[in-house]
Amino acid sequence: MDGLKLYSPLNGERLHPNADGLLDDGERLWPVVDGIPWLRPKEELRQRVIEVLQHGRRDEALKLLLADQDDFSPTPPPNEDALTELLRNSNLNLRKAMTALNYGPVGKYFAYRWCSPTFRSGLYLLEHSVPKGGVVVEVACGIGHFLRELESNGVTTVGMDIVFSKLWLARRYMGVRGPLVCGDVSQGPLSVAKGGCTVFCHDAFYFFPEKEQALRRMRTLAGPGGRLAVGHVHTTAERHAAGYRLDTPLYATMAAGPVYDDASVAAAWYAGSDLLPAGDDSPAVSWIEGHAVKDPIRFSAPDTYTRSPVLADSNLPAPPAEWWAEYEMDAKAIPVPVPGRATVTSAGRIVAAGAQVEELSREQDYRQGYSINLPDKW
Ligand SMILES: C[S@@+](CC[C@H](N)C(=O)[O-])C[C@H]1O[C@@H](n2cnc3c(N)ncnc32)[C@H](O)[C@@H]1O
Repeated sequence: MDGLKLYSPLNGERLHPNADGLLDDGERLWPVVDGIPWLRPKEELRQRVIEVLQHGRRDEALKLLLADQDDFSPTPPPNEDALTELLRNSNLNLRKAMTALNYGPVGKYFAYRWCSPTFRSGLYLLEHSVPKGGVVVEVACGIGHFLRELESNGVTTVGMDIVFSKLWLARRYMGVRGPLVCGDVSQGPLSVAKGGCTVFCHDAFYFFPEKEQALRRMRTLAGPGGRLAVGHVHTTAERHAAGYRLDTPLYATMAAGPVYDDASVAAAWYAGSDLLPAGDDSPAVSWIEGHAVKDPIRFSAPDTYTRSPVLADSNLPAPPAEWWAEYEMDAKAIPVPVPGRATVTSAGRIVAAGAQVEELSREQDYRQGYSINLPDKW
């Protein structure tokens, strides 16, 4: 992408490619494997990967980076045999690939990410922060569900995450085409062309230990005239234990814009209802910084989209019990029927809980989350 610049996480210098396709910060080299720069300040791993790349052992370098995890991983790194099979067997689907990478519960989260109400609060934020023709940089993009949705709707994207294997899945299984960069948001590993873009960070801000620093980096990345959308930020009002959560009033002092209850953002997507201000008891919050968008994007579903695996008529493997437990928590706060609280008749007609039988248009089907953007090799 024109205008994309990368920076060293150690000396902050702009990175330049050398003749071997590695990145040089003037003092040391940084790896790029399968087109994805790895910019993590882990000296031993950096040296090892550079060494094997310089000896032409690309698969070995890839395995080293695929085994690199973040501090929050609930499972140990994948073993060598599983990685060998992952690289050898191009028939593995995304869910099997995540098993090979030993993602554990994180693999279930990503496999069914499209089906979650919290995915829809993210889509709502994007529809209110991205102008038509705009560029989106997704910080902490995971395996790229939002990047895939944005690109399917013609938006230019850049993805960044702290875990290399997630970006690799985004490229290999999710079909994400835009640049992907492995780095820590707090270290500012990239910038995009002047003129402003939308920086989007969903279901991740509570993980950042240095929140003020991360916010400064994201605002700089958005640039003057750009926007920042931060969604589904867990608060201390919820049992969810991951990351470093704060309470709503503290988030409110950090945000340069009104802070909303995230469940009301999801409800606004499903039912067009008003956003509600976040309260002390909001389990998660969201906000948008920057001027209102005059001509925003609007997501729609191409006919390649498939039935959600939470629906009985999809014939796809349904989510496991532990996934439903989190789903129930997220869905409970949303005062409209959401998939999973509805049943589907044999004629493919949807019977929403407590509502009348109705035929949905393709648009409604998509808005309700019945029709989703699963990749071929899901
Ligand atoms: C719960 S996942 C959400 C992924 C995606 N945003 C979504 O909503 O589907 C949180 C992501 O944050 C990433 N992450 C955590 N700390 C990070 C940091 N300091 N910089 C960049 N990414 C980070 C994790 O690797 C993980 O992919």
